[in-house]
Amino acid sequence: MKGRVLVTGAAGFIGSNVCKELSRRGRTVVGLDDFSVGHFKNLAGFQGDVVAADVGDAAYWGPRVGPVEAIFHQAAITDTTVMDQLKMMRVNVEAFRSLLDWAARNKVRSVVYASSAGVYGDSPVPMRESAAPKPLNIYAFSKATMESVAADFLRRNPRLKMNVVGLRYFNVFGPGESFKAKAASMIWQLYLQMKAGKRPRVFEFGDQYRDFIYVKDVVAANALAEKAKSGAYNVCTGRKTTFNQIIAALNGVLGTDFAPEYFKNPYSFYQNETLGDPAATKKALGFSAQFTAEAAIRDYLQGPAVPVGAA
Ligand SMILES: NC(=O)c1ccc[n+]([C@@H]2O[C@H](COP(=O)([O-])OP(=O)(O)OC[C@H]3O[C@@H](n4cnc5c(N)ncnc54)[C@H](O)[C@@H]3O)[C@@H](O)[C@H]2O)c1
Repeated sequence: MKGRVLVTGAAGFIGSNVCKELSRRGRTVVGLDDFSVGHFKNLAGFQGDVVAADVGDAAYWGPRVGPVEAIFHQAAITDTTVMDQLKMMRVNVEAFRSLLDWAARNKVRSVVYASSAGVYGDSPVPMRESAAPKPLNIYAFSKATMESVAADFLRRNPRLKMNVVGLRYFNVFGPGESFKAKAASMIWQLYLQMKAGKRPRVFEFGDQYRDFIYVKDVVAANALAEKAKSGAYNVCTGRKTTFNQIIAALNGVLGTDFAPEYFKNPYSFYQNETLGDPAATKKALGFSAQFTAEAAIRDYLQGPAVPVGAA
């Protein structure tokens, strides 16, 4: 049992990075995935066990997974354009509810789960954990409900020696995301366009910004969350990166000089800005993102870079 952990969504973008890094740190990692989106190629080099199962079916995977001291729950429907409300709620919320019950029955010490900055909707920036949730689609609603499930679960089990930590990831990018296809990050989409010799297309005038965070930082936040106090915390950099800055960084790694092709935004509503406040996470987890978007883009597409603060 010592050092044994379960990672759900193991063949997916973030889950596969968590699996590989925790193994590298000496943990015995059991991965779980239903391979609906995730791909075995994401697990190249990972030598742990992989259980093929629906995360909602604990009766099936429980005996196969066996005893673990922590769970890193990444499995979810992650395509925010999926509109089937019942399906989204079953996979994201109901599976999480049964996973928490399984964890409590099996004396798991820590459950770290992926929430999302989507819970903030179009709340003003910088987005802070104290703001009331404002989900604008069923995906974001499912993530906000997961947080309510976790809080209620802890209230009902006050003597349980298990922490339950939700991580509100902002805009994550990095190795392993390509199997998400259209749901992969904007950085990946722009990279593909430019690599194909096309000018990168963004809404007029590219000055919209996001809190882009590198997957290596997200993995580090997961590892720190295992020992943190129960709650839901931002996983963000606290830095703004505009679409124009992303294009400039991509030109840098590709050795190109593409000017952005601006086009009119067809949406009546569009979130022009996303930015998280990292302060509460720094206090509770001791986490600070190490990569700027530019350094992360180099590390991702060109080979290892020195993270900020590493010198
Ligand atoms: N990537 C981001 O920018 C981002 C932002 C906020 C939150 N998140 C959250 O992070 C987590 C990981 O996301 P990701 O970007 O790695 O996406 P992903 O789609 O690559 O990974 C999700 C994985 O879960 C698996 N899965 C889906 N349904 C399942 C089921 N019923 N049973 C077992 N496995 C199932 C998929 O096959 C996939 O491998 C998700 O919970 C997502 O909501 C991601």
